[in-house]
Amino acid sequence: MFISFEGIEGSGKSTAQRLLGEHLQGRGHDPLLTREPGGCALGRSLRPILLDARTRGLSSRAELYLFLADRAQHVAEVIRPALEAGHIVLCDRYTDSTLAYQGYGRGLDPEHLRRINDMATGGLLPDVTFLLDLPVHCGLERAGLRNREEGTVLSEGRFDAESLEFHERVRRGYRTLALEEPDRFVIIDAAQPPEDVMLQCLSAVEAALRQRGRGLD
Ligand code: TYD
Repeated sequence: MFISFEGIEGSGKSTAQRLLGEHLQGRGHDPLLTREPGGCALGRSLRPILLDARTRGLSSRAELYLFLADRAQHVAEVIRPALEAGHIVLCDRYTDSTLAYQGYGRGLDPEHLRRINDMATGGLLPDVTFLLDLPVHCGLERAGLRNREEGTVLSEGRFDAESLEFHERVRRGYRTLALEEPDRFVIIDAAQPPEDVMLQCLSAVEAALRQRGRGLD
């Protein structure tokens, strides 16, 4: 089973991913936790170019193809092999990030984005996508605090430094995507305590596993 976590900066995706991973492990599963960009060696080399606030003059199209290069390699090297080996894969960001950020955020053509996402992944879509939804000002506050604590304001701050309008477009974009595909997306109120977010994720995973005839216990 393939599960992705999506949302604006500071929406708590990584925490939800980690807590869900621990819970699944506690029930005898061996989930693979990964992320984009940076879930494979190529992506780890691309991450500083994409996220460092000191990167200057990167065009929207160059940015797009760097994310896509990471994704193509990540699917081939990490995600597909793990799914084939029977793991539950929990991925922090995936194709919907491209639609939300490069599409709704930067204004690139969504149909083109869908086609190249498809090329990069060979058509592999998540079974379940959690959209951790949160007002932009809350998310940016949380992300700013985290970056200051971790000393990553510059090294990871290129998107955080975008305008409020940019982040509002991304959030609206995510909500539109979720409404377009209600069978895949689960919208979660990310203002709740992390444990409650995790419990909601868990019950959606349990339901999806039941549908496939594989309970969690
Ligand atoms: P990351 O440090 O993973 O941010 P967060 O902790 O908020 O998840 O950085 C990923 C950044 O890259 C994030 O701002 C969104 C952006 N991004 C895109 O614009 N397009 C993409 O396809 C992906 C995967 C990420």
